[in-house]
Amino acid sequence: MDHFQYQGNKLFAESVSLKQIAEEMGSPCFVYSRATLERHWNAFNNAFGDYPHQICYAVKANGNLAILDVLARLGSGFDIVSGGELKRVVAAGGDPAKTVFSGVCKQDWEICDALDAGIGCFNIESNGELEQISAIAAEKKLVASISVRINPDVDAKTHPYISTGLKSNKFGLEPGVAFETYRRASDDPNIHVHGVACHIGSQLTELSPYQDALGRMIDFVDLLEAEGIKVEQIDFGGGLGVRYSDEEPPSPDQYWIALLELLNSRNRKTPVAIEPGRAIVANAGILLTRVHNLKHNEDTSFCIVDAGMNDLIRPALYQAYQEIVPVELDDCQSPATYDVVGPVCESGDFLGKGRKLSVKPGDLLVVRTAGAYGSVMGSNYNGRARPAEIMVDGDRYYVIRERESLESLYASENRLPD
Ligand code: LLP
Repeated sequence: MDHFQYQGNKLFAESVSLKQIAEEMGSPCFVYSRATLERHWNAFNNAFGDYPHQICYAVKANGNLAILDVLARLGSGFDIVSGGELKRVVAAGGDPAKTVFSGVCKQDWEICDALDAGIGCFNIESNGELEQISAIAAEKKLVASISVRINPDVDAKTHPYISTGLKSNKFGLEPGVAFETYRRASDDPNIHVHGVACHIGSQLTELSPYQDALGRMIDFVDLLEAEGIKVEQIDFGGGLGVRYSDEEPPSPDQYWIALLELLNSRNRKTPVAIEPGRAIVANAGILLTRVHNLKHNEDTSFCIVDAGMNDLIRPALYQAYQEIVPVELDDCQSPATYDVVGPVCESGDFLGKGRKLSVKPGDLLVVRTAGAYGSVMGSNYNGRARPAEIMVDGDRYYVIRERESLESLYASENRLPD
């Protein structure tokens, strides 16, 4: 459920009309709903109830400071994959102690910054990385908390680009190798073994891959504990899917009940962490775009809009379906079927194909479910400025990112000397 609903024939974000935002702020622009964001985070938090848990929102899904700020105020932790994301979390008022640092290629400076900030945990992905973190912690006379990311070899049944828990993926360590990593870690005075981590993929719409992965993690934790290595937390990663069209992903409640049953059946009361990104922010954001022109070729009709693949690359990159709806419903026009395409000079520049729409030039459209992996994956391709980002809160809205100026796009470039 989100807070982008029609009132009469006009689409609103909470109590603000999207037409008003487009008129005042221009298009394209991303619009987020604070109430939806909070609702989704609370849905996870309430699902866990009294069970000891930490929600670490995956910053990669959308790292805008206002979004991080809203979540930090709710008490969220964060999952980061770079020094850049750490800086954002800190700038937004997030707590580094509630932050986990994931990713396969952490640089020395990123580890230094994270240790200085008091990071909660490094989710490490290789033996080399354990040595790297230990050496830096030793130099700083600090103890670094770690979990090892296990690759459980589970098929997440999602798009191959966003599946991460198979042996053939670059992520994590297989349990046999990870066991040795834990042995070394537990003997290392600069390392504190915090937990065990895992993330099997994104946009999961079934529970069984999670259950399989958790089962394997519990087997692994049993082995560690038999070896005298204590595990303080099990981190399941993120990945819970959302509804883009007709998917029916489990709710946070269903997700947690399935995992809790498994924990109970194995007599485990270990505290848990999760790293949801998409499930919190995807449906809390839309991309607002204006129809520039309509064009009818022999085979295909095109609805040309002012947002392109540089603003929202998911349809082009993953052939992802995202719903496209009008800002004003108009019964007077008869619908036609269009490929909704942008201004970028690539045939892959589309936001949707074969969409039935009643539109004319100048109308406004909304691409739904664009809050996650939308603006963060944007680029300046074709010399295009990134759109403004707006957060609606009740009957008010705030500019949470200014539209880029064209000059800023080349401000850090230099011409050669004369
Ligand atoms: N934790 C780790 C270690 C991750 O790698 C990811 C996502 C997450 C958590 C959050 O997953 P989520 O809950 O958002 O599914 N650009 C792609 C998605 C890439 C996801 C990468 N990792 C897309 O637009 O579908």
